[in-house]
Amino acid sequence: LENSGLIEARPQSGYYVLARGPVVPTSRAVEPSTPQPVTLDGVTRRIMRDARDPHLVPLGPAVPDPELLPLENLRRRMSSIARRNPERAMRYEDPVGLRELRAEIARRLITAGCAVTPDEVVVTNGCNEALALTLQCLTQPGDLVAVESPMYYGFLASLETFGLRTIEIPTLPESGMCLEALELALSTHPVKAVIGILNFNNPMGSRMPEERKRRLVELCAQRGVALVEDNLYGDISFEKRIPEVAKAFDRDGNVILCGSFSKTLAPGLRVGWCVPGRLLERVQSRKMATNISSATLPQMVLAEFLAEGGYDHHLRRASREYRQRTDWLRALVLDAFPSGTRVSRPLGGFVLWVEMPPGTDALDVYDKAAQCGFSIAPGCAFSSSNKFSNCIRLNAAYATPKVEPMIRKLGMMIKDVRI
Ligand SMILES: Cc1ncc(COP(=O)(O)O)c(C=O)c1O
Repeated sequence: LENSGLIEARPQSGYYVLARGPVVPTSRAVEPSTPQPVTLDGVTRRIMRDARDPHLVPLGPAVPDPELLPLENLRRRMSSIARRNPERAMRYEDPVGLRELRAEIARRLITAGCAVTPDEVVVTNGCNEALALTLQCLTQPGDLVAVESPMYYGFLASLETFGLRTIEIPTLPESGMCLEALELALSTHPVKAVIGILNFNNPMGSRMPEERKRRLVELCAQRGVALVEDNLYGDISFEKRIPEVAKAFDRDGNVILCGSFSKTLAPGLRVGWCVPGRLLERVQSRKMATNISSATLPQMVLAEFLAEGGYDHHLRRASREYRQRTDWLRALVLDAFPSGTRVSRPLGGFVLWVEMPPGTDALDVYDKAAQCGFSIAPGCAFSSSNKFSNCIRLNAAYATPKVEPMIRKLGMMIKDVRI
Protein backbone atom coordinates (compact mmCIF):
# COMPACT_ATOMS: atom_id res chain seq x y z
CA LEU A 1 0.00 0.00 0.00
CA GLU A 2 2.85 2.31 0.81
CA ASN A 3 4.51 1.62 -2.54
CA SER A 4 1.26 2.42 -4.33
CA GLY A 5 1.01 5.77 -2.55
CA LEU A 6 -2.13 4.78 -0.64
CA ILE A 7 -0.72 4.94 2.88
CA GLU A 8 2.34 6.38 4.51
CA ALA A 9 4.37 5.49 7.59
CA ARG A 10 4.89 8.27 10.11
CA PRO A 11 7.74 7.68 12.58
CA GLN A 12 6.56 6.66 16.07
CA SER A 13 2.96 7.21 15.05
CA GLY A 14 1.73 4.51 12.69
CA TYR A 15 0.38 4.15 9.17
CA TYR A 16 -1.93 6.77 7.71
CA VAL A 17 -4.22 6.70 4.70
CA LEU A 18 -3.15 9.40 2.26
CA ALA A 19 -5.74 11.85 0.98
CA ARG A 20 -6.77 10.75 -2.49
CA GLY A 21 -8.51 12.78 -5.09
CA PRO A 22 -7.59 14.76 -8.15
CA VAL A 23 -4.42 16.81 -8.05
CA VAL A 24 -4.34 20.22 -9.76
CA PRO A 25 -3.71 19.23 -13.39
CA THR A 26 -0.42 19.91 -15.03
CA SER A 27 -1.05 23.26 -16.61
CA ARG A 28 -2.55 23.05 -20.06
CA ALA A 29 -0.41 25.91 -21.32
CA VAL A 30 3.21 25.22 -22.19
CA GLU A 31 3.85 28.59 -23.77
CA PRO A 32 4.79 31.87 -22.13
CA SER A 33 2.23 34.67 -22.05
CA THR A 34 2.71 37.83 -24.05
CA PRO A 35 4.69 40.49 -22.13
CA GLN A 36 2.61 42.99 -20.22
CA PRO A 37 2.94 45.78 -17.66
CA VAL A 38 1.86 44.94 -14.13
CA THR A 39 -1.09 46.99 -12.97
CA LEU A 40 -2.65 45.67 -9.81
CA ASP A 41 -6.31 46.34 -9.49
CA GLY A 42 -8.12 47.32 -6.32
CA VAL A 43 -8.85 43.67 -5.63
CA THR A 44 -5.23 42.71 -5.06
CA ARG A 45 -4.71 45.71 -2.79
CA ARG A 46 -7.80 44.75 -0.84
CA ILE A 47 -6.54 41.19 -0.47
CA MET A 48 -3.24 42.50 0.85
CA ARG A 49 -5.06 44.79 3.29
CA ASP A 50 -7.43 42.03 4.42
CA ALA A 51 -4.43 39.77 5.06
CA ARG A 52 -3.59 42.02 8.02
CA ASP A 53 -7.15 42.28 9.33
CA PRO A 54 -7.13 40.68 12.81
CA HIS A 55 -10.90 40.08 12.58
CA LEU A 56 -10.55 37.65 9.66
CA VAL A 57 -9.28 34.09 10.24
CA PRO A 58 -6.38 33.93 7.74
CA LEU A 59 -7.33 30.97 5.56
CA GLY A 60 -5.87 32.76 2.52
CA PRO A 61 -2.74 34.73 3.49
CA ALA A 62 0.39 32.60 3.77
CA VAL A 63 1.05 33.36 7.44
CA PRO A 64 2.45 30.83 9.92
CA ASP A 65 0.43 29.72 12.92
CA PRO A 66 1.88 31.65 15.92
CA GLU A 67 1.39 28.50 17.99
CA LEU A 68 4.03 26.81 15.85
CA LEU A 69 6.59 29.60 16.30
CA PRO A 70 9.06 29.65 19.22
CA LEU A 71 7.72 33.02 20.36
CA GLU A 72 8.38 32.62 24.08
CA ASN A 73 11.96 31.60 23.42
CA LEU A 74 12.48 34.61 21.14
CA ARG A 75 10.83 36.97 23.62
CA ARG A 76 13.06 35.82 26.49
CA ARG A 77 16.14 36.03 24.33
CA MET A 78 15.22 39.51 23.17
CA SER A 79 14.89 40.92 26.69
CA SER A 80 17.98 39.11 27.90
CA ILE A 81 20.14 40.41 25.02
CA ALA A 82 18.79 43.95 25.42
CA ARG A 83 19.67 43.75 29.14
CA ARG A 84 23.08 42.13 28.73
CA ASN A 85 24.27 44.14 25.77
CA PRO A 86 22.21 47.31 25.35
CA GLU A 87 24.90 49.36 23.65
CA ARG A 88 25.52 46.84 20.92
CA ALA A 89 21.81 46.09 20.49
CA MET A 90 20.95 49.76 20.01
CA ARG A 91 23.74 50.89 17.73
CA TYR A 92 23.96 50.91 13.94
CA GLU A 93 24.93 47.54 12.57
CA ASP A 94 27.16 46.89 9.57
CA PRO A 95 25.04 47.55 6.41
CA VAL A 96 25.61 43.97 5.25
CA GLY A 97 24.39 42.63 8.60
CA LEU A 98 25.64 41.20 11.88
CA ARG A 99 28.65 38.98 11.21
CA GLU A 100 27.48 36.20 13.57
CA LEU A 101 24.11 36.05 11.81
CA ARG A 102 25.68 35.95 8.35
CA ALA A 103 27.90 33.11 9.56
CA GLU A 104 24.83 31.17 10.76
CA ILE A 105 23.00 31.77 7.47
CA ALA A 106 26.05 30.58 5.49
CA ARG A 107 26.34 27.52 7.74
CA ARG A 108 22.67 26.64 7.22
CA LEU A 109 22.97 26.96 3.46
CA ILE A 110 25.36 23.99 3.42
CA THR A 111 22.32 21.77 4.13
CA ALA A 112 20.75 23.15 0.95
CA GLY A 113 23.86 22.23 -1.05
CA CYS A 114 25.25 25.74 -1.20
CA ALA A 115 28.77 26.70 -0.06
CA VAL A 116 29.09 30.44 0.57
CA THR A 117 31.13 32.48 3.03
CA PRO A 118 29.53 34.93 5.49
CA ASP A 119 31.02 37.75 3.37
CA GLU A 120 28.79 36.71 0.48
CA VAL A 121 25.61 37.17 2.55
CA VAL A 122 23.70 40.45 2.99
CA VAL A 123 21.11 40.66 5.78
CA THR A 124 17.89 42.39 4.71
CA ASN A 125 14.51 43.44 6.12
CA GLY A 126 12.77 40.22 5.15
CA CYS A 127 12.86 38.37 1.87
CA ASN A 128 10.88 41.17 0.29
CA GLU A 129 13.73 43.65 0.70
CA ALA A 130 16.18 41.06 -0.64
CA LEU A 131 14.06 40.75 -3.79
CA ALA A 132 13.50 44.49 -4.10
CA LEU A 133 17.22 45.31 -3.82
CA THR A 134 18.00 42.61 -6.39
CA LEU A 135 15.41 43.84 -8.86
CA GLN A 136 16.62 47.42 -8.47
CA CYS A 137 20.17 46.31 -9.30
CA LEU A 138 19.09 44.27 -12.31
CA THR A 139 16.42 46.32 -14.02
CA GLN A 140 15.21 49.71 -15.25
CA PRO A 141 11.54 50.72 -15.52
CA GLY A 142 9.99 49.12 -18.60
CA ASP A 143 12.27 46.04 -18.48
CA LEU A 144 10.86 42.56 -18.81
CA VAL A 145 11.00 39.95 -16.03
CA ALA A 146 9.97 36.29 -16.41
CA VAL A 147 7.75 35.13 -13.55
CA GLU A 148 6.01 31.89 -12.64
CA SER A 149 2.32 31.65 -13.32
CA PRO A 150 0.56 31.57 -10.88
CA MET A 151 2.88 33.95 -9.03
CA TYR A 152 2.94 35.18 -5.40
CA TYR A 153 1.09 38.51 -5.54
CA GLY A 154 3.63 40.31 -3.31
CA PHE A 155 6.10 40.00 -6.20
CA LEU A 156 3.57 41.43 -8.59
CA ALA A 157 3.15 44.43 -6.27
CA SER A 158 6.93 45.02 -6.26
CA LEU A 159 7.16 44.62 -10.03
CA GLU A 160 4.37 47.17 -10.47
CA THR A 161 6.13 49.64 -8.16
CA PHE A 162 9.36 49.32 -10.15
CA GLY A 163 7.50 49.84 -13.46
CA LEU A 164 8.48 46.41 -14.77
CA ARG A 165 6.70 44.21 -17.30
CA THR A 166 6.19 40.48 -16.88
CA ILE A 167 6.14 37.48 -19.10
CA GLU A 168 4.33 34.64 -17.33
CA ILE A 169 5.80 31.13 -17.48
CA PRO A 170 3.34 28.29 -16.68
CA THR A 171 4.18 26.54 -13.41
CA LEU A 172 3.42 22.87 -13.05
CA PRO A 173 2.23 21.43 -9.74
CA GLU A 174 4.74 18.59 -9.69
CA SER A 175 7.86 20.10 -11.20
CA GLY A 176 7.50 23.88 -11.05
CA MET A 177 8.28 26.38 -13.78
CA CYS A 178 7.93 24.93 -17.30
CA LEU A 179 11.50 25.12 -18.66
CA GLU A 180 10.43 24.65 -22.27
CA ALA A 181 8.20 27.72 -22.03
CA LEU A 182 10.99 29.65 -20.30
CA GLU A 183 13.45 28.73 -23.04
CA LEU A 184 11.01 30.01 -25.63
CA ALA A 185 10.53 33.26 -23.69
CA LEU A 186 14.28 33.81 -23.34
CA SER A 187 14.91 33.18 -27.01
CA THR A 188 12.18 35.52 -28.22
CA HIS A 189 12.17 38.40 -25.68
CA PRO A 190 14.78 40.62 -23.99
CA VAL A 191 14.16 39.21 -20.49
CA LYS A 192 16.34 40.84 -17.78
CA ALA A 193 15.68 38.44 -14.91
CA VAL A 194 13.83 35.23 -14.08
CA ILE A 195 12.18 35.00 -10.65
CA GLY A 196 11.37 31.58 -9.24
CA ILE A 197 10.16 30.04 -5.98
CA LEU A 198 11.64 26.65 -6.73
CA ASN A 199 11.24 24.88 -3.37
CA PHE A 200 7.64 24.61 -2.14
CA ASN A 201 6.32 27.24 -4.44
CA ASN A 202 3.81 29.79 -3.27
CA PRO A 203 1.03 29.16 -4.30
CA MET A 204 1.56 25.77 -6.04
CA GLY A 205 3.51 23.91 -3.35
CA SER A 206 5.67 22.34 -6.07
CA ARG A 207 9.34 21.53 -5.69
CA MET A 208 11.43 21.66 -8.81
CA PRO A 209 13.42 18.40 -9.09
CA GLU A 210 17.18 18.82 -8.75
CA GLU A 211 17.91 17.93 -12.37
CA ARG A 212 15.53 20.62 -13.60
CA LYS A 213 17.09 23.16 -11.24
CA ARG A 214 20.44 22.39 -12.81
CA ARG A 215 18.97 22.88 -16.30
CA LEU A 216 17.33 26.12 -15.24
CA VAL A 217 20.63 27.50 -13.90
CA GLU A 218 22.42 26.48 -17.11
CA LEU A 219 19.73 27.98 -19.30
CA CYS A 220 19.86 31.35 -17.52
CA ALA A 221 23.67 31.36 -17.56
CA GLN A 222 23.79 30.56 -21.30
CA ARG A 223 21.40 33.41 -22.04
CA GLY A 224 23.11 35.82 -19.63
CA VAL A 225 19.86 36.34 -17.69
CA ALA A 226 20.00 36.53 -13.88
CA LEU A 227 18.03 33.94 -11.92
CA VAL A 228 16.46 35.33 -8.73
CA GLU A 229 15.66 32.39 -6.45
CA ASP A 230 13.23 32.85 -3.54
CA ASN A 231 13.82 30.06 -1.04
CA LEU A 232 11.53 31.34 1.69
CA TYR A 233 9.75 28.00 2.20
CA GLY A 234 12.76 25.73 1.55
CA ASP A 235 13.21 24.86 5.26
CA ILE A 236 9.61 23.62 5.66
CA SER A 237 10.06 20.25 4.01
CA PHE A 238 7.67 17.28 4.29
CA GLU A 239 10.41 15.03 3.01
CA LYS A 240 13.33 13.68 5.02
CA ARG A 241 15.75 16.35 3.88
CA ILE A 242 15.90 20.01 3.03
CA PRO A 243 15.91 20.35 -0.78
CA GLU A 244 18.85 21.82 -2.62
CA VAL A 245 18.64 25.36 -3.89
CA ALA A 246 19.34 26.21 -7.53
CA LYS A 247 22.21 28.33 -6.24
CA ALA A 248 23.97 25.02 -5.48
CA PHE A 249 24.45 24.58 -9.25
CA ASP A 250 25.60 28.15 -9.87
CA ARG A 251 29.16 28.41 -11.20
CA ASP A 252 29.43 32.09 -12.10
CA GLY A 253 27.39 34.07 -9.57
CA ASN A 254 24.38 34.38 -11.88
CA VAL A 255 21.90 33.07 -9.28
CA ILE A 256 20.76 35.50 -6.59
CA LEU A 257 19.40 33.58 -3.64
CA CYS A 258 16.90 35.25 -1.27
CA GLY A 259 15.24 34.02 1.91
CA SER A 260 14.11 34.96 5.39
CA PHE A 261 12.92 33.64 8.74
CA SER A 262 9.42 35.06 8.27
CA LYS A 263 7.68 31.70 7.80
CA THR A 264 9.72 29.69 10.27
CA LEU A 265 10.53 32.00 13.21
CA ALA A 266 8.73 35.35 13.21
CA PRO A 267 7.58 37.54 10.33
CA GLY A 268 7.61 40.64 12.54
CA LEU A 269 11.34 40.44 13.25
CA ARG A 270 11.85 41.34 9.57
CA VAL A 271 15.05 39.38 9.20
CA GLY A 272 15.85 38.09 5.74
CA TRP A 273 18.96 37.67 3.63
CA CYS A 274 20.37 37.66 0.17
CA VAL A 275 23.33 35.90 -1.45
CA PRO A 276 23.68 38.26 -4.41
CA GLY A 277 26.43 36.45 -6.37
CA ARG A 278 27.79 38.74 -9.06
CA LEU A 279 25.65 41.60 -7.74
CA LEU A 280 27.27 41.51 -4.29
CA GLU A 281 28.80 44.98 -4.25
CA ARG A 282 25.79 46.61 -5.87
CA VAL A 283 23.35 45.03 -3.42
CA GLN A 284 25.60 46.02 -0.51
CA SER A 285 25.68 49.69 -1.52
CA ARG A 286 21.99 49.78 -2.30
CA LYS A 287 21.20 48.31 1.11
CA MET A 288 23.33 51.04 2.71
CA ALA A 289 21.64 53.74 0.64
CA THR A 290 18.15 52.40 1.43
CA ASN A 291 18.21 51.98 5.21
CA ILE A 292 21.86 51.97 6.41
CA SER A 293 21.35 48.58 8.05
CA SER A 294 18.67 46.24 9.33
CA ALA A 295 17.71 46.63 13.00
CA THR A 296 20.42 45.23 15.28
CA LEU A 297 18.44 43.60 18.11
CA PRO A 298 16.44 41.13 15.92
CA GLN A 299 19.67 40.12 14.20
CA MET A 300 21.34 39.41 17.56
CA VAL A 301 18.34 37.41 18.72
CA LEU A 302 18.29 35.23 15.60
CA ALA A 303 22.08 34.78 15.54
CA GLU A 304 21.96 33.47 19.10
CA PHE A 305 18.91 31.27 18.47
CA LEU A 306 20.52 29.69 15.40
CA ALA A 307 23.90 29.24 17.10
CA GLU A 308 22.36 27.42 20.06
CA GLY A 309 21.03 24.73 17.76
CA GLY A 310 17.30 24.82 18.51
CA TYR A 311 16.30 25.71 14.96
CA ASP A 312 16.51 22.23 13.45
CA HIS A 313 14.45 20.71 16.22
CA HIS A 314 11.88 23.50 15.83
CA LEU A 315 11.80 23.01 12.04
CA ARG A 316 11.23 19.27 12.34
CA ARG A 317 8.32 19.78 14.69
CA ALA A 318 6.73 22.60 12.67
CA SER A 319 7.18 20.80 9.32
CA ARG A 320 5.62 17.61 10.72
CA GLU A 321 2.64 19.63 11.93
CA TYR A 322 2.29 21.57 8.65
CA ARG A 323 2.38 18.32 6.74
CA GLN A 324 -0.45 16.87 8.82
CA ARG A 325 -2.48 20.06 8.51
CA THR A 326 -1.91 20.23 4.76
CA ASP A 327 -3.01 16.60 4.28
CA TRP A 328 -6.02 17.13 6.52
CA LEU A 329 -7.11 20.31 4.74
CA ARG A 330 -6.63 18.72 1.34
CA ALA A 331 -8.88 15.80 2.27
CA LEU A 332 -11.45 18.15 3.77
CA VAL A 333 -11.55 20.36 0.66
CA LEU A 334 -12.02 17.35 -1.59
CA ASP A 335 -14.87 16.23 0.63
CA ALA A 336 -16.58 19.62 1.07
CA PHE A 337 -16.15 21.25 -2.36
CA PRO A 338 -18.16 20.34 -5.45
CA SER A 339 -16.97 17.42 -7.54
CA GLY A 340 -14.49 18.44 -10.20
CA THR A 341 -12.42 20.38 -7.65
CA ARG A 342 -8.69 19.70 -7.85
CA VAL A 343 -6.14 20.37 -5.13
CA SER A 344 -2.35 20.57 -5.19
CA ARG A 345 -0.32 18.04 -3.22
CA PRO A 346 2.56 20.07 -1.76
CA LEU A 347 5.84 18.57 -0.61
CA GLY A 348 6.51 21.41 1.80
CA GLY A 349 5.45 24.88 2.90
CA PHE A 350 1.87 25.38 4.02
CA VAL A 351 -0.28 26.59 1.15
CA LEU A 352 -2.77 24.67 -1.00
CA TRP A 353 -3.78 25.67 -4.51
CA VAL A 354 -7.37 24.74 -5.25
CA GLU A 355 -8.85 24.70 -8.73
CA MET A 356 -12.64 24.79 -8.53
CA PRO A 357 -14.90 23.65 -11.36
CA PRO A 358 -14.94 25.98 -14.40
CA GLY A 359 -17.39 28.85 -14.01
CA THR A 360 -16.78 29.30 -10.28
CA ASP A 361 -16.03 32.94 -9.52
CA ALA A 362 -13.37 32.95 -6.77
CA LEU A 363 -13.83 36.69 -6.17
CA ASP A 364 -17.46 36.19 -5.34
CA VAL A 365 -16.47 33.42 -2.93
CA TYR A 366 -13.85 35.73 -1.42
CA ASP A 367 -16.47 38.41 -0.65
CA LYS A 368 -18.83 35.90 0.91
CA ALA A 369 -16.05 34.35 3.01
CA ALA A 370 -15.05 37.80 4.34
CA GLN A 371 -18.65 38.39 5.43
CA CYS A 372 -18.43 35.13 7.39
CA GLY A 373 -15.22 36.20 9.17
CA PHE A 374 -12.47 34.44 7.25
CA SER A 375 -10.27 35.22 4.28
CA ILE A 376 -9.17 33.18 1.28
CA ALA A 377 -6.84 34.28 -1.52
CA PRO A 378 -8.60 34.39 -4.92
CA GLY A 379 -6.60 33.12 -7.90
CA CYS A 380 -6.84 36.30 -9.97
CA ALA A 381 -4.37 37.98 -7.57
CA PHE A 382 -1.67 35.55 -8.70
CA SER A 383 -1.47 36.74 -12.30
CA SER A 384 -1.17 40.06 -14.08
CA SER A 385 -3.22 38.75 -16.99
CA ASN A 386 -6.54 37.81 -15.39
CA LYS A 387 -5.90 34.11 -15.12
CA PHE A 388 -7.02 31.67 -12.41
CA SER A 389 -10.46 33.19 -11.80
CA ASN A 390 -11.74 29.77 -10.61
CA CYS A 391 -8.80 29.11 -8.27
CA ILE A 392 -8.05 29.96 -4.65
CA ARG A 393 -5.06 29.60 -2.38
CA LEU A 394 -5.69 28.28 1.12
CA ASN A 395 -3.40 28.66 4.12
CA ALA A 396 -3.01 25.23 5.69
CA ALA A 397 -0.98 26.66 8.59
CA TYR A 398 -4.32 27.41 10.30
CA ALA A 399 -5.91 24.09 9.35
CA THR A 400 -7.00 22.72 12.72
CA PRO A 401 -10.43 21.21 13.50
CA LYS A 402 -11.59 24.74 14.52
CA VAL A 403 -11.72 25.75 10.85
CA GLU A 404 -13.65 22.73 9.59
CA PRO A 405 -17.02 24.59 9.72
CA MET A 406 -15.48 27.42 7.64
CA ILE A 407 -14.19 25.07 4.96
CA ARG A 408 -17.56 23.28 4.82
CA LYS A 409 -19.27 26.66 4.52
CA LEU A 410 -16.86 27.58 1.73
CA GLY A 411 -17.86 24.39 -0.06
CA MET A 412 -21.53 25.41 0.21
CA MET A 413 -20.78 28.93 -1.07
CA ILE A 414 -18.93 27.54 -4.06
CA LYS A 415 -21.88 25.35 -4.93
CA ASP A 416 -24.09 28.49 -4.66
CA VAL A 417 -21.97 30.87 -6.76
CA ARG A 418 -21.44 28.52 -9.68
CA ILE A 419 -23.14 29.62 -12.89
C1 LIG B 1 7.19 33.56 -1.79
C2 LIG B 1 7.31 34.71 -0.86
N1 LIG B 1 8.38 35.53 -0.97
C3 LIG B 1 8.54 36.59 -0.15
C4 LIG B 1 7.62 36.89 0.82
C5 LIG B 1 7.87 38.05 1.76
O1 LIG B 1 8.71 37.56 2.78
P1 LIG B 1 9.20 38.47 4.01
O2 LIG B 1 8.08 38.58 4.98
O3 LIG B 1 10.37 37.74 4.57
O4 LIG B 1 9.61 39.79 3.45
C6 LIG B 1 6.49 36.06 0.99
C7 LIG B 1 5.48 36.35 2.01
O5 LIG B 1 4.43 35.75 2.06
C8 LIG B 1 6.34 34.95 0.12
O6 LIG B 1 5.30 34.12 0.21
